[in-house]
Amino acid sequence: MTIEQIRSKFPQLQETVYGKPLVYLDNAATTMRLDASVAKWNEVSLHTNANLHRAVHRMANLATEEYEGARKAVADYLGADSREIVFTSGTTASLNLLAFSLGESGLLKEGDEIIIAESEHHSDIVPWQLLAGRKGLNIKVLPVDENGKTDLSALKRMLSSRTRLCCVAQVSNVLGLVNPVKEIASICHAAGCLLCVDGAQAVAHLRVDVRELDCDFYAFSAHKIYATPGVGVLYGRFSLLQQLAPWQGGGEMIETVKWGGTTFAQPPHRFEAGTQNISGVPALVPALEFLKETLADKELLENQENIKAFLLDELQQIPGLRLYGVPEDPSEKVSLFSFSIDGVHHEDLALILDKMGVAVRSGQMCAEPLMDRFGVTGMLRASFAPYNSLQEAQYFTDSLKKAITMLK
Ligand SMILES: Cc1ncc(COP(=O)(O)O)c(C=O)c1O
Repeated sequence: MTIEQIRSKFPQLQETVYGKPLVYLDNAATTMRLDASVAKWNEVSLHTNANLHRAVHRMANLATEEYEGARKAVADYLGADSREIVFTSGTTASLNLLAFSLGESGLLKEGDEIIIAESEHHSDIVPWQLLAGRKGLNIKVLPVDENGKTDLSALKRMLSSRTRLCCVAQVSNVLGLVNPVKEIASICHAAGCLLCVDGAQAVAHLRVDVRELDCDFYAFSAHKIYATPGVGVLYGRFSLLQQLAPWQGGGEMIETVKWGGTTFAQPPHRFEAGTQNISGVPALVPALEFLKETLADKELLENQENIKAFLLDELQQIPGLRLYGVPEDPSEKVSLFSFSIDGVHHEDLALILDKMGVAVRSGQMCAEPLMDRFGVTGMLRASFAPYNSLQEAQYFTDSLKKAITMLK
C-alpha cells in the first residue's frame, strides 16, 4: 500500500489549520479515525442496533453477533481465547478493573508488593496506588536509565517472595522504547510474580501476540488504533480471570440473583455489567484488519523506519535539544519522539508549531514521575502513524528549527 492510499482512508488528514495542510503528529494521544471503522459504527447504529445478549428478537441477535464477533476477532488477533477478552471503555478502565478485581480476589495480601516501571503512564500508576492504599500493599519503582531503558538487572534484584505483580508498558508513551516483555515475563514468572502489560502505545506499532509475550494481562484502547473512543480491551489468562472478583455489579454479569445472595457469570461477562458499547466494539474489527495489513506491508514499514532514522539523526543535531528514549538499536524504538530544548518552553514551541499546521503534544504526557526522573516540567512529543510521510517529518523539523529561532 502507498501512503496516499492509506491517507485516503482518513478523511480528517485533508483538513487545513490556519490555512496550512494539517500535519498530525499527535498519534500517541489518539489516532485519526479509519473510514471503515466509522462506517461499521454507523452500520450497527443505524441498522442492527439493539441491546446485547438479552432479548430473543432478530435485532438483538444481530447486535449480539456483531459484538461477540468482535470479541472473537480481538482474541484471534492477540492469539488468545474469546473468554479471555474483556471489553472496557479504554486502557484506563482496563487497568482500574484489574486493580480493583485483583484486590478483591484475595490474590494480593497486606504487605505484598507491586513493581511498577518508572516510565509508566498515570493510568498504570494511580489505580495501583489506590489499591495499595486500600489493601496495605507496597509499591516498588523499577528504574529506567539515562537513555530511558528499563533496568532489568534492577528488576531481578527487586523481586522478592512478596512480589505479586509487575506492571510495565510494552512501549512507553514518552520514550517510545519497546520493553522486552517476553524477557520480563520470564524473569517475573521465575519469581512467582504476575505480569501486567500496558499495551496502549504498542498495538499500533507492533504485531502483538499475548501467548508469545507470555504476559498474564494486557490492556489497550481502540482509539489509539484508528477505531472509536470509549472502547478498550483487557486480556487476562482465563485461569486468572476466573479467580478475579467482579468490579461492577449489574445486568448481564450475574448467574443468579436472590435476596439471599448473588452468583456471578463466568469471565468475560462477569466484568461487563450493564449496557455495553453496542456500536463501538464492532468498529474495532475493521481497525484490526487495517492493523494486520499495515503491520505486514513492506513499503509502509520502510517508510516508518526512514522517518525514525531521519528524526533520530536530525533532532539530535539541533543545539540544546535533549531527546529522551535513545535506543541502542533503532528496532527498540517506535516512531515516537519526546524532547526538551534548553531555554525554550515546550508549550510555546507547540503553540508556534500549531500555527504552522503541525499538531504535537506538549506537557507532562501523564507521566509526571518520568518528568521528575529527567528533571523537566514537560516535553514536546511528535508521534507518527503509517499515514505520515517523510516529507511531513521534514516539514516538522524545519518548522521546529524556525520556532526555536523565534523563541531564542
Ligand atoms: C501508555 C499509556 N497507557 C495508558 C493510556 C491511557 O489510555 P486511555 O486514555 O485510552 O484510557 C495511555 C494514553 O495515552 C498511554 O499512552
